[in-house]
Parts: sequence; C-alpha cells; structure tokens
Amino acid sequence: MNVVLLGPPGVGKGTQGVFITSEPGWVRIVTGDLLRDSVTSGSKLGLEAEAYMTSGQLVPDALIVALVRDHLVHLELQGSLVFDGFPRTAGQASELTEMLNLLGKRVDSVVVLQAEEQDLVERISGRRSCPTCKSVYNIHTSPPEKSGFCDVEGSALIHRTDDNPETVLSRLQVYRSETEPVVHYYQELGSKVCLIDGSKSVDEVRTNIAQVLGLVTA
Ligand code: AP5
Repeated sequence: MNVVLLGPPGVGKGTQGVFITSEPGWVRIVTGDLLRDSVTSGSKLGLEAEAYMTSGQLVPDALIVALVRDHLVHLELQGSLVFDGFPRTAGQASELTEMLNLLGKRVDSVVVLQAEEQDLVERISGRRSCPTCKSVYNIHTSPPEKSGFCDVEGSALIHRTDDNPETVLSRLQVYRSETEPVVHYYQELGSKVCLIDGSKSVDEVRTNIAQVLGLVTA
C-alpha cells in the first residue's frame, strides 16, 4: 500500500507519518527533511531551495521532482511508501503518478489531515526538532525529557527558521492555493481519499488513520 499524507503546515503529518512507518516494511519519504538536509550540506539544490523555504514558498516543481526521483532510485522499494509533504501541487501529483507507474505502483490512499489555522500557528510556535534524527517535540504539549535536547540523540533541538509567524501565514496561504487542489486530483484519479480531523489528540488521530488504512494499532 502506498500512502500520501496531505495537510497544512503543523497539522501533524510528520508526527503521524512516524507512527505509520514504525511497522516493518514501510518507508517514509519526507521532502521537507530532504530539502533541509540539502541546505545543511550546502549542495547546489540546497542553495537554490533555501530562499523559497525561508520565505514559505514552494520550491519549484522541477527541483523537487528531481529530488524525489533521485531518492526513490536509492531506496529498497519492496514494501509500502508514505509520502509526507509531496506532492504539493497538481503538477507534482501528476509526476508522482508517472514515477510510480514505472515502478508498477500507485497511490492507494490519500490521508488529508485538517485543523483550524489558529491551532496550527500555535502548534508550530511550540515545535522543536532534532536536526539529527528529525524527532519532533512541542514545548507545550510533548516536551523532551531534558529541556532543549532530543530524547533519542541528545542533540540540541532547533526551532526551524521557517517556523516564525510571518512565514507560517505564507505557508498556510500557499497550502490553500497550491496544495488543496491535489485532493481533487486524487479524487478524480480514483484513489481512496480519507479526511481526518487533525485537531484531536495525537493518539486519537493515530487511531483514526490506522482505522482508515486498515493498520493494526499497538
Ligand atoms: P515541510 O517540512 O514539509 O513543512 P510543512 O508541510 O509546512 O509541514 P510541517 O513540517 O510544518 O508540519 P507537520 O504537518 O509535519 O506537523 P508536525 O508533525 O511537525 O516543508 C517545509 C518547506 O519545504 C515548505 O514550506 C517548502 O518551501 C519546502 N517543500 C517541502 N516539500 C515541498 C514540495 N513537495 N514542493 C515544494 N516545496 C516543498 O507537528 C507540528 C507540531 O504540532 C509539533 O510540535 C507536534 O509535536 C505538534 N502536534 C502534532 N500533532 C498534534 C496533535 N494532534 N495535537 C497537538 N499537537 C500536535
């Protein structure tokens, strides 16, 4: 089964993506993390992408599609895939369909997480991330055991540079104009599209996603 996780910034795609892929046989492809790693490494793609990310705009389709294609080539693709943060435009969705076709795969389910924008802004203001293992915390609702440090790696946690209020508003606007149409793309394609209330607790959202995807919960 291959799954696309859609939803506005801060709705919990990363948090839930980790749960879905915690079972063996699942691979998670997170374009935000791939881009941030490219920026950190100083690669040509990272240098090109950084200005878009800092201002809350989407990186151009051609760049992100090339990044995903290159990543897929290097993955063991026997199991199930979860795409987190991709596709974000109808053009990217169409490219993904073609890429998966070549691999004899398709998007089976699209999980769309939804929540009020005010809640998203609050969540994002409290988010802290581990730059090493990508674990996500929230200083208000899910803080690390030792303040400021990752429970897994011990690395100092960071507040993402695009998590400031102005950039978050821009990211929300881009989501509405560019990414919401992707839902219609998948409805027309005949994929199973599941709308999930992302404003509920992390555990409730997890249970609801497991239910619609037919996963066994621990
Ligand atoms: P990306 O990294 O993908 O950011 P995003 O889509 O804006 O999503 P976020 O990572 O902000 O949020 P999330 O939904 O994963 O929430 P999380 O689980 O962390 O993209 C960043 C940038 O890269 C883009 O702006 C763009 O420039 C570029 N980019 C990436 N992909 C691209 C593409 N395909 N095309 C073009 N450009 C691309 O949770 C957020 C917080 O809330 C955490 O603190 C968490 O602990 C907390 N939380 C989660 N769930 C709950 C809950 N149920 N209740 C309470 N708190 C919760």
